[in-house]
Amino acid sequence: MQSSIAAKDKIIVPLDVPAKSAARELIKAIGGKVGFFKVGDQLFIAAGPAIVEEIQASGARVFLDLKFHDIPNTVRRAVESACALGVDMLTIHLSGGREMCEAAVVGRGISKILILGVTVLTSLSDEALAEVGFRTSVQDEVLLLADLAKHVGITGLVASPQELVALRERFGSLFTMVIPGIRPTWSEAGDQKRTLTPRQAVDAGADYLVIGRPITASPDPQSAVQRIIDELES
Ligand code: C5P
Repeated sequence: MQSSIAAKDKIIVPLDVPAKSAARELIKAIGGKVGFFKVGDQLFIAAGPAIVEEIQASGARVFLDLKFHDIPNTVRRAVESACALGVDMLTIHLSGGREMCEAAVVGRGISKILILGVTVLTSLSDEALAEVGFRTSVQDEVLLLADLAKHVGITGLVASPQELVALRERFGSLFTMVIPGIRPTWSEAGDQKRTLTPRQAVDAGADYLVIGRPITASPDPQSAVQRIIDELES
């Protein structure tokens, strides 16, 4: 199962840096060469919404990864603000419940923003879930929350490489799938344990690939991006 998105546009680079200056360097090096930059808590708190405009000016789109999880009214308003900022993707925790997820969809209004549901954080094991009162396994919880996403009209999911196949089997092409934990054969795994190469992830049904350190920690980020695009197109 392969989506029709061009190789370059499938690549999302997380700007996991502490300050605007470091983000600018990366945007300057590879802006326009990748589809998206991901802005998470660290950079958004340090640099504020202005960083979103800088990314857009570089020709790339913005994935705002702040993982909203709050009462429905607050999440609706947060989604409204993200839409006004002009970002293209954002994340919410599906575990915030049906009403909260519905409120996020209401907050989107007529905007084309893609709301991505986070199921279970990959840092959590079955034991860690049990510790906070869940009686389900990670795998069952992921599928249950994906069902909830389907029912409230959330059409995107962030999933780990090991969940991708099960989700595609159960839901077909219903969801746009954004997959982190990607490592080309020539890069270091770092702290990512179960990884897929860009090609493997796309073949397994990924629509977008979040690829950080293989690009951002490379001495030559431009060449690293080009190598990944060439591998995806070959
Ligand atoms: O550098 P690396 O490619 O590991 O970066 C992956 C990015 O995706 C980071 O921003 C990380 O926080 C994020 N992420 C992840 N695993 C998840 C969800 C998000 O690595 N399950």
